[in-house]
Amino acid sequence: MRRRSVLAAAGAGAAALLVGGTRAEAATLSSTASAKAAAVSGGDVPWASASLRSLADRVGLRIGSALYPQDIETASWAAIAGSQFSVVTPANGMKWQIVEPAQGTYDWSQADELVNFAHKNNQLIRGHCLIWHNQLPTWLTTGVANGSITKAQLMDLAHQHITTEVSRYKGKIWQWDVCNEFFTDSNPSQLDPNNWWIVNAGPEIIPNAFKWAHAADPNALLFFNDYNIGGEDGTNAKFNAVYSYVQQLLSAGVPIHGVGIQGHLDTQYGWSPTPLRQDMEKFASLGLKVAITEADVRTFVNNPTAQVPTDNLALFAHPYEYEEMLKAALAVPECISFTVWGWTDANSWVPGSFSGEGYADIYDVNQQPKAAYYALQSELGLASNGAPYRVKSYTPRS
Ligand code: XIL
Repeated sequence: MRRRSVLAAAGAGAAALLVGGTRAEAATLSSTASAKAAAVSGGDVPWASASLRSLADRVGLRIGSALYPQDIETASWAAIAGSQFSVVTPANGMKWQIVEPAQGTYDWSQADELVNFAHKNNQLIRGHCLIWHNQLPTWLTTGVANGSITKAQLMDLAHQHITTEVSRYKGKIWQWDVCNEFFTDSNPSQLDPNNWWIVNAGPEIIPNAFKWAHAADPNALLFFNDYNIGGEDGTNAKFNAVYSYVQQLLSAGVPIHGVGIQGHLDTQYGWSPTPLRQDMEKFASLGLKVAITEADVRTFVNNPTAQVPTDNLALFAHPYEYEEMLKAALAVPECISFTVWGWTDANSWVPGSFSGEGYADIYDVNQQPKAAYYALQSELGLASNGAPYRVKSYTPRS
């Protein structure tokens, strides 16, 4: 009975789950998905087989994913990446380390491949990221460390890097993450005095980077992007620091148009959706756009291959946290995109970056949609359709 309603409620996706994972895993996941779908309508829902992007389109929200080359080089993966999302972020392809591996020698192959894929699939692009302390080319970090690149030369190189990359993709990038991860996780938080850029170029790198990017593509929306600025730190200390900083940038006439909230959550920490929405509203009150730029929800798993959560409650926390992030995005009209940082657990940065963790994405290791996928689909379905059975055909019981 329960199994029948699973299939009826969540449709082909849940059926596919039964094929994809182990039976026990599939039963748990599909019953979570079906509970969600059943709670919505008690039967099939009009959006049961609708893509995330088609539903999000109807409420003016772009839904995106970070993409690695692997996501688009296998036909069955490309079909998902192309059909479910309306905006894509090259996960690594536009980072300095990749695009200029040797000084003056450029490699745009990965970035071009992703840009072409996006165009073919009628998707917008979030460019990521121009100035960050990670994934810098070795020639640059070595030169700075041994003194062969001076502070003034570093500024010039940054200027050149931004101008070259932003000009190359001029007119093709919707939002650029201009500066990424510059604040401390302490309370109070501040511009990190130990950040590689702050140490070696000075804090002027940030306003300069926005000005250079704006000069190269005046129509691109320019974002400051960071993590723990949507209430995840409990105290909101990091949000407060970023909020005052972007306020200062705006008063100084720096061309900044938005703030990206990364949204990397972990089920082992407490998290409340209310501060996320409030923080987004506060950024928006400055006249800025906001975006969820790197959503994922990691948890402890049995091993990096199967990625079965070791705590059963994680199966509930996972779709809940995704759904609540999306709800915040839907509640704030200035939020223009909601992007997941990779769509399948088979190709996630989490197992390699957080020891023992995984299960972070909305599709499983076999590219089958998880409960979190159905949670997002259901939220978008309700947002774009209302609750049709209640509104149109609900008959009160006598
Ligand atoms: C990650 C990529 O996903 C990995 O493949 C890479 O090895 C390291 O960077 N915050 C960011 C992203 O802004 O650029 C990071 O992406 C994840 C954390």
